Amino acid sequence: MLTAITREVSRSLADCELTWLQREPIDFEKARAQHRQYEKCLEALGVQVISLPALESYPDAVFVEDPAIVLDEIAVITTMGCESRRGERESLAEALAAFRPLIRMRNPAKLEGGDVMRIGKDLFVGLSARTDPAGVQQLAEELNPYGYRVTAVELRDCLHLKSACSFIGDGCLLINRAYLDTEPLRNYRFVDVAPDEPAAANALLVDRTVVMPSAFPATANLLQKAGFRVREVDVTELLKAESGVTCSSLLFDF
Ligand code: GLY
Repeated sequence: MLTAITREVSRSLADCELTWLQREPIDFEKARAQHRQYEKCLEALGVQVISLPALESYPDAVFVEDPAIVLDEIAVITTMGCESRRGERESLAEALAAFRPLIRMRNPAKLEGGDVMRIGKDLFVGLSARTDPAGVQQLAEELNPYGYRVTAVELRDCLHLKSACSFIGDGCLLINRAYLDTEPLRNYRFVDVAPDEPAAANALLVDRTVVMPSAFPATANLLQKAGFRVREVDVTELLKAESGVTCSSLLFDF
């Protein structure tokens, strides 16, 4: 069964890390309600949602995608380039240990889950401020015995690889080509985000449905016209914390 691990929103969310966005006030109650709607959206798509308690000392802890990568055989606890977030990992590791054997990456290599886009046995990993070549190499070495191919992708002007592109099924990527070197992804078909929605490339594929923020209606419309089934969720308060819909869950089969 498709299973998602999520985490409740911390009251401290407004103190989140920001790299490319200007800080704006965040309404905690609204963010919490939107996160619940996001969880309900996953449930409506047949996903079993396991919601962990908030980690109040960690403003970004709701973004569970970054401390871990869950594959069919194992889960990887990442080193996290963002030092202030490293304390999020332990309780997530405890939760994941119920579902997968764990591998823990080792510092000083840096890697965050938001930089990892999985398509079958291929893992594309963004080189960002949070993930470095040593992190990519270590991940490749750890995953080689399981048959995964790991390929680095150069990024520019965005936080994570999945800020720049997401796998949306049918051999297609939803993409903002301005944010990355497309060459390593040449075997996929590209669906470009709408020109006035540069942040719209982050989408979560759940079975055959593309979940994306309602803040990007032009891109949703493009996807629908291209034949994709789209489900929109209002996550405007969470977007202010420099997140996307992939960040707020770890999705895997169990
Ligand atoms: N606020 C999300 C992050 O920077 O990790």
